[in-house]
Amino acid sequence: MSMMSDSQSAAMTGERSREAPSSAATADDPNTVYALGSSTGESARLQRQAEELAPDSAALLDRVGLRAGESAIDLGCGPRGVIDLLAERTAPGGRVVGLDADPAHVAMASEFVASRRLSGVEVMRGDARHTGLESGSFDLVHARTLLVTVPEPAEVLREMVRLTRPGGWVVGLEPDTEVAICYPPHPAFDRLCEIFTTAFRRNGANPHFGRRLAELYREAGLEDVTVEVRATVYPHGHSRRTVRVDLVCSLHPEIIKMGLSDQEELNELDTAARKHLENPDVLVMPSLNFLAWGRKP
Ligand SMILES: C[S@@+](CC[C@H](N)C(=O)[O-])C[C@H]1O[C@@H](n2cnc3c(N)ncnc32)[C@H](O)[C@@H]1O
Repeated sequence: MSMMSDSQSAAMTGERSREAPSSAATADDPNTVYALGSSTGESARLQRQAEELAPDSAALLDRVGLRAGESAIDLGCGPRGVIDLLAERTAPGGRVVGLDADPAHVAMASEFVASRRLSGVEVMRGDARHTGLESGSFDLVHARTLLVTVPEPAEVLREMVRLTRPGGWVVGLEPDTEVAICYPPHPAFDRLCEIFTTAFRRNGANPHFGRRLAELYREAGLEDVTVEVRATVYPHGHSRRTVRVDLVCSLHPEIIKMGLSDQEELNELDTAARKHLENPDVLVMPSLNFLAWGRKP
């Protein structure tokens, strides 16, 4: 029998203290239904993601022309999200809110805001499905790689629309991982993609969500809905080249609990896939990223 407490074993695996998701996960706690769990490795991946996706997110925000003095919120901002991109565009005199359910991410985002000396920015802990914030209080409401990770994305979208002022914008970026290219192919990469898809779906999240984004925007009552897709091939040395492998690492505890694999196989697959991706001649396009924006009537 293990002599380790839950928090000790969590520390060894890089997991932070959080109840393990189960089929009986309480929908009331956003952290139990969120597909990627909480670990130091996942937080580090999200810090990198903020840099990696900044060009796509900047392009998205520029499509709707957020202006100085306006207000914006980033729901599920993680340790950084697009808080800095929103603050740059709304300064001077604007208001930016970063909201996340994970207290560790709230702390990291607050540190980020302080380290960058961003003014007019507030970071808060909350549930993107029901924030409790005033209706119509933002010119722009943003969520990136949040809807893909929750079982009921329409719930979050309803809240996004509620928070937007009439005439304001709901905007987001969500991946769709059905089309992922690694060429030449490698069995370890293929197996990791297969494991990821099954594990990611465990609480009802949809790894192929990107294509549904515009449809959900329209169903939520938004107008002038526009969608754009980006398929980026990441060159040798780019940190996003290994994103599919990194995502599987974030899911190791779940994968093992679900009996999809064991730590030994996962370690072997990880080593083999990373070695393959280190070859500069290997081409990697890890997902399609859907950008969408729609106006609240
Ligand atoms: C995949 S991360 C994306 C982080 C950030 N948006 C980015 O793109 O870099 C999803 C984030 O949403 C948070 N999250 C998940 N469900 C949430 C909910 N219902 N309310 C608030 N935050 C939530 C998670 O804690 C995590 O930080």
